[in-house]
Amino acid sequence: MRKTLFYCTLTAVLIFITSGCKNSKSTIDQRVDTLLSEMTLEEKVGQMAQITLDAIGNGDSIYESKNPFDFDIKRLQKAIVDYKIGSVLNTTNNYALPPDEWNSIISTIQQYSHQTRLKIPVIYGIDAIHGSTYAAGAIMFPQQITIAATFNPENAYNMAQVSAYETRACGIPWNFSPVLDLGADPRFSRQFEGFGEDPLLGKIMGEQAIKGYEGITDSVSHPTKVASCLKHFLAYSVPNSGKDRTPAFVPEHIIREYHLPQFKAAIEAGAESVMINSGLINGISVHASYDIITKLLKDELGFEGVVVSDWMDIINLQKRDKIAANNKEAIKLAINAGIDMSMVPYDYVHFCDDLVELVKDGEVKESRIDDAVRRILKMKIKLGLFEKPVTISADYPDFASAKHEKLAYNAAADAITLLKNAENILPLKKGLKILVTGPNANSMRSLNGGWTYSWQGDKVERFATKYNTILEAIQIKNGSEQVKFVQGVSYIETGRYFEEQETNYAEAIVAARNADVVLLCLGENTYTEKPGDLNDLNLSPLQTKLTADIAKTGKPIVLILNEGRPRCINSIEPLMKAVIQTYLPGNYGGDALADILFGDVNPSGKLPYTYPAYPNSTVNYYHKFSEEQKPSEGAYKYESDYNPQYEFGYGLSYTTFEYSDLITDKVRFSDNQTITVSVNIKNTGMVDGKEVVMLFSSDKVASISPDVKRLRKFEKIILKKGETKTVKFTINASDLAFVNQFNKTITEDGEFDLKIANLSTQIFFKN
Ligand code: BGC
Repeated sequence: MRKTLFYCTLTAVLIFITSGCKNSKSTIDQRVDTLLSEMTLEEKVGQMAQITLDAIGNGDSIYESKNPFDFDIKRLQKAIVDYKIGSVLNTTNNYALPPDEWNSIISTIQQYSHQTRLKIPVIYGIDAIHGSTYAAGAIMFPQQITIAATFNPENAYNMAQVSAYETRACGIPWNFSPVLDLGADPRFSRQFEGFGEDPLLGKIMGEQAIKGYEGITDSVSHPTKVASCLKHFLAYSVPNSGKDRTPAFVPEHIIREYHLPQFKAAIEAGAESVMINSGLINGISVHASYDIITKLLKDELGFEGVVVSDWMDIINLQKRDKIAANNKEAIKLAINAGIDMSMVPYDYVHFCDDLVELVKDGEVKESRIDDAVRRILKMKIKLGLFEKPVTISADYPDFASAKHEKLAYNAAADAITLLKNAENILPLKKGLKILVTGPNANSMRSLNGGWTYSWQGDKVERFATKYNTILEAIQIKNGSEQVKFVQGVSYIETGRYFEEQETNYAEAIVAARNADVVLLCLGENTYTEKPGDLNDLNLSPLQTKLTADIAKTGKPIVLILNEGRPRCINSIEPLMKAVIQTYLPGNYGGDALADILFGDVNPSGKLPYTYPAYPNSTVNYYHKFSEEQKPSEGAYKYESDYNPQYEFGYGLSYTTFEYSDLITDKVRFSDNQTITVSVNIKNTGMVDGKEVVMLFSSDKVASISPDVKRLRKFEKIILKKGETKTVKFTINASDLAFVNQFNKTITEDGEFDLKIANLSTQIFFKN
């Protein structure tokens, strides 16, 4: 009785506290309505414009500011006070700044916003995509693709909550993250920014990222949280050419099957904003697509937040896509399609003036403007910007704390994936004579990837001096005297591209001869977006040559891959004793790798994508046609191109796991029933380890050719040596559904295989 009373009182107190803490929905709506009713058309349109920081900086033009940054007071006054611009983004001169400089920049902007009639605060937005990208000293986590390889949603949460905290320490409340684009094409330059090729993995990681950014129970108003921004709606990552911002052709049922679920789930998790795909789908510019932005995103998915354009993408409707004769027509198309805010980001004068005229001419309804502004004001109110327009770094003692560092390290250690380990060459014994070589061996830049301290990641070395490269971490572990470093090949530091040169090439081969083992660190330099476009997915010719020449020495080679996307290694893989994929593991990636190489950490990462063997065979794991189907004369096998180097979900451990007793609690089930699937996993090796248990299903016959298999559930577990655990998954009809040719999600009657590791069992579904 007493207990009941205690819990009742506690619940009442909690309800009181939470309702006091967050702005209740109706209060927010009332505030928005009142504000909106007082606004002039010009004030409303100003809210819909977002400019880049350089546009109000002191410099020769609005495209570049002087360094160090300083405001151009006339530009600031004109943009914020005269044009009442609602949002500012990006950093200045493509540089990271210390949090207190950010505080002062944003305070100044807010002082000017306070001079406007209605004193509506500016909302500052930034790409803090794996840590607070543009904050000097911030903790840089592994990139999203690396987080996906952990198959442990906790890491997505941790990455997001630390990024939110450290971004808010700068005074910035809006983050253009996470990327929920499907990583289905390994050629795409932004593959590393997403959660890999599987929609379920992307969905689960995405939901956790939203929780990390915005709070678990809609507490985005908390000063350690930021508004998230899902991007890039929709099907941005699969242009036919594999190159950024080139046309994609994707049928609607494919969009709904593979590309939409992640966005839908993140919207349901409460995401505050969405950014639109810069490109064309099926010949239509997404920024001008009423069907995608209004009908699908806002009406069907019920998205009530802010829809922001991508960089210059309204003007691109005229300049690039040629679907508008001029700026004004481009604006009309985009705003009528449903864009709420234009990332202009320079020429806001034309955006604002033209949009005002369009409304006055009746080409854009004022009700559309009201809808857009309502969404923007609501986000500002929810974030508490009216009460506290800038947060101050002194209030964020955990910025770059040891606690945050640990979480970033954990994510890297949980992700790094062992792909080959012939004769158990790994873990290495301490004290061996080691040669560390290759262009990625001594680079903080390549460990981090793009969007690290600058857009292309080209300024990492200036900001990340205190962290350990792969070489440094190995020296710490094995003692410097026993570790020789000769680079062999290096990236030419000209900025953004992939040029390489020989650097002490002959010396590297000689050093290999004198070593017990060679740690060959290969991959890519940093990039993102257009500068990351690629003409050949093979590992570069120079790195391939270095590998072949080192292999001729006969010394055992451990290949350490450090790359944003899987570059084909088919020709050199047989020459390797071991292969380890580090992806882009961030500032603690060197330390995590060294711990794995020397056995202090048992690797447990799994590939979040199919690692192709050849550039012309980039088929995903969920391709068509069953594996049992043998090609016969005259019958083509759709999966004949599916011959990956390593499969999705692949990754070795220093221990071994044995799966047994895959059973279901029933064999037949119908619509409103669930099936419990259980399996035993035993750690049969000599060390403790972590294993990702994955449940796949295969639909035996369906009205459109079913995928060979699809991931339906997964769980990462820890098993002590000798330990056995039972893992249970519950599935229902919707877990086995697919999108049919009429774009409807259905589960059809019939037989399904359920597969976990090497085991499989059958179930039957009847509506
Ligand atoms: C990218 C977006 C990014 C925006 C703002 C664009 O070029 O496509 O992902 O959020 O710039 O930096």
